[in-house]
Parts: sequence; structure tokens; C-alpha cells
Amino acid sequence: MKSFGNLLTALFGALTLSQRCLGQTSTPVVYEDPDTGIVFDTWSASEEVTSGGLTIGFALPSTALKTDATEYIGYLQCSSTNTTDNGWCGLSLGGTMTDSLLIIAYPYNNTIYTSFRYTTEYSKPTVYTGNATLTQISSTVNSTHYTLIYRCQNCLSWTEGSSSGSASTSAGTLGLGWAQSIAAPSNRNCPDNIGFREHSSESIFVADLSSEVANPSYSEWAALATKTVTGKCAASTSAAVPRST
Ligand code: HEM
Repeated sequence: MKSFGNLLTALFGALTLSQRCLGQTSTPVVYEDPDTGIVFDTWSASEEVTSGGLTIGFALPSTALKTDATEYIGYLQCSSTNTTDNGWCGLSLGGTMTDSLLIIAYPYNNTIYTSFRYTTEYSKPTVYTGNATLTQISSTVNSTHYTLIYRCQNCLSWTEGSSSGSASTSAGTLGLGWAQSIAAPSNRNCPDNIGFREHSSESIFVADLSSEVANPSYSEWAALATKTVTGKCAASTSAAVPRST
């Protein structure tokens, strides 16, 4: 097991110098979604780095570069290698896999399912028990890519047991990480109860925020987030069983 702890800052410093090896630069590409008009700062990993490529985007509340935001609108585009076994991808809001709020996303039956996860070790992350909320603005799924635009509230600071952390938007940079898996999860009806194995590729990088990331239209865009996708999860098996006396 590895622990980055206080080395995170040093790590990000070193990463700034070595990002060419990791597939994406810190400098964002500003992207306007044609359907919603939402303007994102985006960072992409190329096909050479991860099968089919992957793009992460952020849009922030208008004051986020001065006062730390507690929410954001995210863009996530990941790749599928075929139409049935169409993979999963994930985002780390703290950069590292450990001690950061994680989001897993995967396509299934033309819907994108998500689950907040957390881990303090490099092993399968369990369901996050904090109050982060994800609401979808739009999603598209085709045979090569799945794309989700979502609002994430209470996602920029996190606490799970004795582990906690945060992402400071006023710092002007975010430490981000991503992971992508070619193999799809099992039990895809229920995102909090999927089975999955370690990603096929992953990376950690420093994302510089441009002045366009914080937008006066943020509240209007956030109001477009109306769809909650929870999936179909079987009734809990831990319900009290009556004693057969
Ligand atoms: C069974 C599940 C998983 C296992 C066994 C696993 C294992 C690992 C291991 C061993 C590493 C270190 C790789 C290296 O340094 O060579 C790593 C890195 C990473 N993982 Fe995972 N992982 C799992 C799921 C996830 C998920 C669900 C996410 C995100 C939603 C994620 C995000 C990351 C990221 C961003 C990194 C790179 C940054 C870092 O090393 O902390 N992982 N993972």
C-alpha cells in the first residue's frame, strides 16, 4: 500500500515537470457544449495514453476563483471499445486514488450510471457515505464514447471516517486524477453495488484553471441539472430477519 499524505504538493510539483509522460498538459482547452451552452475548461488524455481517449471538464460558479466553490458542473467523456463490454471510467477530485472523493461512471442501456466512492488504500473503493450529490444535465452513449454533463454538489471537500480532504478552486489549480477500464462492471443495474476490477489506465495531473472556468451563467446552467439516476438496487439483504422461535 502506498501513502502520499503530505507528499501530495511535492508530487504535483514534480508532475508539472513530467506531464508529457502522463498524456495531458495542465493547460485547459475551453470547450462550449453545443446543446447547453455550458463553457468548460477541459483536459484530455490521448488515445495513446488510454484506449479511445478521455476528457474531463469543469465549469465553476462565478466567484470560484476568489472564494472556494463547494460545487461544480462536470464534463466527462470516456471511451468504450465495443457496444456490449463498454467499460467504466472514474475521476478523482483530489488527484490521488486514496483519500480523495472518487466518481465512477459507466454506460448501460443508453444511460450513464454513477457512484461516489472512497478508499484509503489502493484496493477496491467502497461507496462514499458523505453528502455529495450528483444530478445529470445530459448524457449520450454511442458505440465508442459515453459523455456525461452533471452537477456535483458538496463534491469539493470530503470526509470519510478519519480521512478528509478538499479541492480549492481559489488556488487557481486543481489536482485531478482519472482512471479508465476496458472491462465493464458487473451488476450494472445498481451503481452502488457493481463489481469491478482495477482500471486499465490511470493518471494524476495538475489542472490549471482559466479565467473562463468561473462563469456568471453558472446558476442558470446548474438549474438544468434535473435528472437523478440511482439505478435499480435490490432491497437490502441486511434487513432484520425475524427469529424463528
Ligand atoms: C478494484 C478497484 C481498484 C484497484 C485495485 C485500484 C488500484 C490502483 C493502484 C494499485 C494504483 C497505483 C498504480 C501505480 O502507481 O502504478 C491506482 C492508481 C489510481 N487509481 Fe485506482 N484502483 C481501483 C479503482 C479505482 C477507481 C474506481 C478510481 C477512480 C474513480 C481509481 C483512480 C485511480 C487514480 C486516479 C490513480 C492514479 C493516482 C494514484 O496513484 O493515486 N482507481 N489504482
